[in-house]
Amino acid sequence: MEDEKIYVFDAYGTLFDVDHACKEMAIQLGNNWEKLSSIWRQKQLEYSWLYNSMSKYVSFWQITKDSLEYAMNSLSMNSAKIKNELLDLYFKISAFEEVEEVLKKIKKNKIKTTILSNGSYDMLNSAVKNSKFDELISGIISVDECKKFKPHRDVYQLVIDKFNINKKKCIFFSSNCWDIHGASNFGFKTIWVNRKKLGDEYLPGIVDLQVNNLNEFLQKNHIL
Ligand code: 2OP
Repeated sequence: MEDEKIYVFDAYGTLFDVDHACKEMAIQLGNNWEKLSSIWRQKQLEYSWLYNSMSKYVSFWQITKDSLEYAMNSLSMNSAKIKNELLDLYFKISAFEEVEEVLKKIKKNKIKTTILSNGSYDMLNSAVKNSKFDELISGIISVDECKKFKPHRDVYQLVIDKFNINKKKCIFFSSNCWDIHGASNFGFKTIWVNRKKLGDEYLPGIVDLQVNNLNEFLQKNHIL
């Protein structure tokens, strides 16, 4: 058991496309869809960090709803219909196109996998089911278990507690660079899936490997 490694995946932005909901409604939202998506995501993350700082917790779904409300207000959008449609789409969010094939190959290699996400269990189960990943991922861990958000150390500890595995055997994949630093600071090996080609963050922890998408990780045969 001690020698076995596990691939730990962040969910939102890494496996699942956080722009999917607004993109799907681009016709109704017009030119604002990208701006709305970006404010929504940024505010969602900010709220999670602020809840951590205040030692308060609400589910990520609540944060997702509140941050959408904020984003729509900031762009003077006030349609309850659009808001509800966006939330429905976010609840069954789509995966990035390469993810399914990559997960299949990882499974074929008999490497254990889990999601570790800020998302609440209902959100994560819905996303996994919608993309038919149920058979492809060995576990789902939500921060609901510790009632803190990333990058709090208690979140990464959940993987150790669930799988009884050494930190060094945990290979953590995220498109969120701050999450990569959090996981590395905790002691995981890290793969930054830099989908948006951003610069590195100036935070504790390091990026062990950087790829543009998960396919590139497999193509380079970086099975750590
Ligand atoms: C996740 O935990 C941070 O959204 C990111 O899935």
